[in-house]
Amino acid sequence: MRILSGIKPSGTIHIGNYLGMIKPMAASQARGELFCFVANMHSLTTMFDGKKMAEYTREAILDLLALGIDPDRSVFWVQSDVPEVTELSWYLSNVTAMGLLERCHAFKDAVAKEIPPNHGLFSYAVLMAADILLFQSNLVPVGRDQKQHVEVTRDIALRFNGTYGEVFAIPEPEITESLAVIPGIDGQKMSKSYGNTIEIFGTEKSLRKKIMSIVTDPTPVEAPKNPETSTIYSLYRLFAEPDRAGLMADKFRAGGYGYGEAKKELFETLWEYFRPFREKRAELAKDPGCVSRVRAMGAAKARAVAMQTLEKVRKLVGVR
Ligand code: TRP
Repeated sequence: MRILSGIKPSGTIHIGNYLGMIKPMAASQARGELFCFVANMHSLTTMFDGKKMAEYTREAILDLLALGIDPDRSVFWVQSDVPEVTELSWYLSNVTAMGLLERCHAFKDAVAKEIPPNHGLFSYAVLMAADILLFQSNLVPVGRDQKQHVEVTRDIALRFNGTYGEVFAIPEPEITESLAVIPGIDGQKMSKSYGNTIEIFGTEKSLRKKIMSIVTDPTPVEAPKNPETSTIYSLYRLFAEPDRAGLMADKFRAGGYGYGEAKKELFETLWEYFRPFREKRAELAKDPGCVSRVRAMGAAKARAVAMQTLEKVRKLVGVR
């Protein structure tokens, strides 16, 4: 089984990214053949600072390596290092109805937010289909917001196979339901666009500050509190050992336990949880050739697979 997923470089990785995407991705290395890439071409639809783009891409590679993506056990590359994907994207464009793309929620949301839609944003799903189909992926783990793009990919693949002959595997989306909502420091879903994220690789001071700024209600210290409605406990439970989490829940219910104290425990737990990842990342960042070596190896492995599909497609559409 071939599992494929992409992650857009966004500057700093937060615990929502980790639990929702990266942790399951790293775990996928044990259940199938993982194809995992940094989707920098997709970021170009909304990011127009080349220097930042290059920097974010490098950061994303280090983050993913530190958090458990193993370039020897998986195929791990940067999207733009495999130019075959943009060629396939063009072939796919011509069997994709405009209406299919007009119905995409992500595109409609951008229009609703009055972001002037560029053509790249409109054809976002076609490039994503090319990512998925080029590698004959069977399973695509994504956040709920990307499910429709995988469905569009299936439509495009069926249409292409029907028009030219069976060439693409039809992929299935896989949604990590139980982890779908991770609260941010304001209690809403953690998302970069809400400015409520908790970064993984910040300094001790910045992490402590973030945790201490989690929004709480004015229940006095003495009063019993409901752990289930608390952002602090909801986050703690995701990282603490189950019996430690149980202890915090008991203290919430008993009263005499303030939010400040709970935040301190949450901070300690997060800081320790990410310690080995932080150390690994510092180690990797020290080696100036690491990122380019990983990129070169990933591109070679990915292109070898990509070429097999692309050659078939070129013949089918008649450009060979
Ligand atoms: N669009 C995805 C996101 O925003 C990233 C992505 C690009 C992707 N290509 C992909 C995910 C292919 C899965 C498969 O998160």
